[in-house]
Amino acid sequence: MAQDERDKAWRAYYDGVAGRPPRPTLIEALDRFGSNPGRAVDLGCGDGRDTIELLRRGWLVTAIDAEPEALARLVARADLPPDGVLSTRCTRFEEAVWPIGDLVNASFVLPLCPPAMFPALWTKIADSLRPGGRFAGQFYGPRDGWADDAAMTIVTEAQARGLLDAYAIERFTEEETDSVTPRGKPKHWHIFHVVARKR
Ligand SMILES: C[S@@+](CC[C@H](N)C(=O)[O-])C[C@H]1O[C@@H](n2cnc3c(N)ncnc32)[C@H](O)[C@@H]1O
Repeated sequence: MAQDERDKAWRAYYDGVAGRPPRPTLIEALDRFGSNPGRAVDLGCGDGRDTIELLRRGWLVTAIDAEPEALARLVARADLPPDGVLSTRCTRFEEAVWPIGDLVNASFVLPLCPPAMFPALWTKIADSLRPGGRFAGQFYGPRDGWADDAAMTIVTEAQARGLLDAYAIERFTEEETDSVTPRGKPKHWHIFHVVARKR
């Protein structure tokens, strides 16, 4: 897809999800930390549905997205906590560097990493977490409607669980549904929702 088409598609996505609440995987990870905010990175933050919640709870946040439009929308949000500590980076997460911290949040983004680059990204995620830190996010499974797209990273349940060998799994939920994408297209979803604590 050409860059301008990609920008247009993401703009439609941001319009489609505007105002939606934070993801349940993020909420679960944050609740498990109790009242101890730390440092988080939000990979593929989009217009910030999760970043806002992190800031609201006092976390220091590095929000990363490859689309300038995502970050422009995030920093323009009326609900951005005025005293929140946020740094934004407009870059691909495969190339990004971010501080060592307590939480890597990756809501509905890891499947967008090209398969050849995924192992290095996954290692970078683990290396950036302190012991006791958490990963929250999703993988797409082999029955997902986009599973034939060679540009996407798709994993079986066994592969997903294998990726979590260095973690204690706190949530591993399989979801399989027919619904529509935020851009209004019908889609079969096969998702593994994960919250895991680094040992
Ligand atoms: C499906 S949206 C998810 C946004 C948000 N995390 C959420 O849960 O709604 C994926 C986001 O990841 C960004 N993205 C996709 N591939 C990326 C990459 N390789 N590096 C950084 N951001 C990427 C897109 O620009 C988009 O904002």
